Amino acid sequence: MIKTRMKDHNCGELNLNNIGEEVTLSGWVATVRDLGGILFIELRDRSGFFQVVANPQINPQVHKAFEKVRSEYVITVKGKVTRRPEETYNEKYPTGQVEMYPESVEILSEAKTLPFVLDDENVSEDVRLKYRYLDIRRESMKSKLVLRHNIVQAVRNYLNNLDFLEVETPILIKTTPEGARDYLVPSRVQEGKFYALPQSPQIFKQLLMVGGIEKYYQIAKCFRDEDLRADRQPEFTQIDLEMSFVEQQDVIKVVEGLIVDAFKAAGVEVKPPFIQMPWQEAMDRYGSDKPDTRFGLELFDIGDIILESNFDIVKNTLLNGGIVRGIRVPGGAKFSRKDIDDITKLAVSFGAKALANIIYNEDGTAKSPVLKFVTEDQAKRIQERAGAEAGDIIFFVADKPKLVYDIMGRLRLHFGKSLNLIDESKHNLLWVVDFPMFEWSDEEGRYMAMHHPFTSPCLEDLEKLNSGDLGNVKSIAYDIVYNGTELGGGSVRIHSSEVQKAIFKALGLTEEEAKEKFGFMVNALQYGTPPHAGLAIGLDRLVALLARTDSIRDVIAFPKNSGAKDLMSDAPGEASLQQLRELHLKSTVQQHK
Ligand code: AMO
Ligand code: AMP
Repeated sequence: MIKTRMKDHNCGELNLNNIGEEVTLSGWVATVRDLGGILFIELRDRSGFFQVVANPQINPQVHKAFEKVRSEYVITVKGKVTRRPEETYNEKYPTGQVEMYPESVEILSEAKTLPFVLDDENVSEDVRLKYRYLDIRRESMKSKLVLRHNIVQAVRNYLNNLDFLEVETPILIKTTPEGARDYLVPSRVQEGKFYALPQSPQIFKQLLMVGGIEKYYQIAKCFRDEDLRADRQPEFTQIDLEMSFVEQQDVIKVVEGLIVDAFKAAGVEVKPPFIQMPWQEAMDRYGSDKPDTRFGLELFDIGDIILESNFDIVKNTLLNGGIVRGIRVPGGAKFSRKDIDDITKLAVSFGAKALANIIYNEDGTAKSPVLKFVTEDQAKRIQERAGAEAGDIIFFVADKPKLVYDIMGRLRLHFGKSLNLIDESKHNLLWVVDFPMFEWSDEEGRYMAMHHPFTSPCLEDLEKLNSGDLGNVKSIAYDIVYNGTELGGGSVRIHSSEVQKAIFKALGLTEEEAKEKFGFMVNALQYGTPPHAGLAIGLDRLVALLARTDSIRDVIAFPKNSGAKDLMSDAPGEASLQQLRELHLKSTVQQHK
């Protein structure tokens, strides 16, 4: 504790051991109550609460001063810690057995009436964000920031002990290919040129490996201009790391240790090694590359049975490169017509053209328009494949693989939640490995890197890379998943400039474009590059999950809202004409006439 003239003890740390001690406390007035002429102040600082009392018979000067004190005033009191009368012990606070009748009080700062009552849980998030500095006074916000600090310290400690070096990388850079839109910063000095803000330190950490740093980490700010959700912010923080002379399993081992320590800082014990699930298996069983394994409802495949049937509409989908996946909902035979309509609508909102169902009645009969297309034997095999019993319902969708996985994965999560199947006490950590290197983008009409273009393809797939069979090239990439959320991801990197060039080519970058964008990177790889690999964990997500809150905004001191706005400072703001001129910019928005 830093002892100062205004404060030599923390409010929340005083107890019966301090009886008789002369202390000086400073903090905010949480409440003032007048009980029969005696004034009780609940004094609050970061550590907690402490009761301060003024009685006209005992400390009349202080009582007089307290009469002027209102909620959220900042005051200093000085006096002896005393024991409360036993019948007034307050079990709610650790300091509930002690109090102080101050000998002196000083009002350090007055406060206007707050725009909201701090412990009112029904205040809208917009109001809290506008007055975030007040919101942070609340215990639940403060404790999340403390948790964040503790997790970061645990991570730093862990990595420092393993000889990692913390190195800062620049914020004004060229571009990082993480797949989101860049935030651009116009240059005043270089007319018409722009910096990008880093989507991650990816390129720099690899160049640090070329530079011989061997083990790097950084608690790094990243910037991505993308559609925001509860678990996405335009600026967020990564625990970013990179290592030389390692392979996938080495990174996994180091990160598992990091996870153990980070979770321990939040009071949660987890035991590695975590399961390593190939990407294809995750998609087939859970319809997701971040499977929530806290509940079952695994998907099943009835493609082979349909292909033998007369179910032509689905059969054609399968013959044209589609797949079919189903899900069994135990007890779902009792769903009403409306329930099934709602589920179908949900599937349609996920992109499904149709959602087929088969109801298995309690009396052993089955009901579905689909049954007219299949033989009795095929129907029986479908039921067996689904593991369906009397009283269940199954749903299935046929379409392009990506869409089917997405729809069924989301339906599965819907049933997991709506049927209360998720065991909230579980801490399921797993690795997803063996990702495809590329993913087809209908929008772009070309293959895109599933991770980023510096990820190493599996060496045995290099042939496919050269022959253009890009859909079947696997990468040496891995994601760490916690209770159905992607916490982090990484990969073994390309350390050969030739392979790097081949990947850029596969991604449709011409040699000139690749040179213009990442030429310095390809160059660097030619001067003696150690094999290297790394990973980044989303710190905000990690803390939010461990704080058991749905939104990463809750664990960021000053977050943006879903419109990427800072409601407190009103950023982004307008620039003056003068500023725009200096930056060689012209706004097309009307306000700058
Ligand atoms: P990736 O893009 O998977 O990998 O990001 C790593 C982790 O960062 C978190 N994250 C986010 N958190 C909040 N808001 C966002 N907008 C956001 N975007 C990502 C996620 C994600 O798992 N350079 C690579 C890592 C590497 O290969 O070493 C990278 O950035 O938790
Ligand atoms: P009907 O409309 O009675 O001829 O039956 C067609 C059945 O096929 C309906 O139950 C549809 O839900 C189902 N169906 C059609 N297309 C698909 C698809 N792509 N995936 C799953 N079921 C489908």
